[in-house]
Amino acid sequence: MRVHIAAACGFCYGVRRAVELAAQAEAGTHTLGPIIHNPQLVDSLSEKGVTPVNSLEEVADGSRLLIRSHGVGPDVYDEAEKRRLHIVDATCPHVKKAQQDARKVINAKKVLVIIGEKDHPEVISISQWGGNRAIIIDKVEEAEEIPYCETMGVVVQTTFSQSRFKQIESVLAGKTGHLDVYMTICAATRQRQEAAVELAGKVDAMIVIGGRNSANTGRLAQVCAEQGCPTYHVETAAEINPDDFAGMHDIGVTAGASTTDWIIQEVVKMMEDLQTEGTEVMSEELLDQY
Ligand code: F3S
Repeated sequence: MRVHIAAACGFCYGVRRAVELAAQAEAGTHTLGPIIHNPQLVDSLSEKGVTPVNSLEEVADGSRLLIRSHGVGPDVYDEAEKRRLHIVDATCPHVKKAQQDARKVINAKKVLVIIGEKDHPEVISISQWGGNRAIIIDKVEEAEEIPYCETMGVVVQTTFSQSRFKQIESVLAGKTGHLDVYMTICAATRQRQEAAVELAGKVDAMIVIGGRNSANTGRLAQVCAEQGCPTYHVETAAEINPDDFAGMHDIGVTAGASTTDWIIQEVVKMMEDLQTEGTEVMSEELLDQY
């Protein structure tokens, strides 16, 4: 049996950076919300004294506050300054760019449209940088309902689907005399999906590792299954059923953006241990795309 790891999978640049900053943070640092959707990692940081809080009210004046990769609105920075909090800013640079673009659109007095999920923390933070004046949509039908305006600026959630964005963009083009699109979709999501599709086309089965509530992991499993490849979405190696892989020779492994390297390696090891006598295990390097 040969085990192949997708060329791009697991932590993206922004998540890796945030996790590293959290790991280096002093005990007593709070993160505004869990640093990533990975309970084991959040627990292990908590043991070192880096704990999540839900709001600034839970943070004592003068303490350290780590802002996660999704970013926050300007009010949080203002409040932190008043309260003399020491900020460790792990906002992903791609998200920062989207926030700045939103502000640019509003300063230019254009109608701001954000394409993304209304309730997602990143979209909320972008909207706040746009003065909470954005029209937020994630469906073509919603784009069709937007009234005509002279000038419009569009900012996109970094993890938004490229194909759905294209459909919405073409509707928005008919809704304004002048459309500025800030292409803020991050390459990491697209690269992970493309690498998963490529691998799924070559192997007997795919294992997709990541939280069941992780949207990007779910999309990876979906694109692999769409290739007609038997696909198993697991959170940990313990969920792998050896019987599912009986008689198979090539197994592909990919993982969502908040899946730690050690969980990926644990799954690879598990598959290696499944090998039968006389078979060979070949793991490709886990490539860090950023
Ligand atoms: Fe940043 Fe892209 Fe990851 S926006 S947090 S590098 S998915």
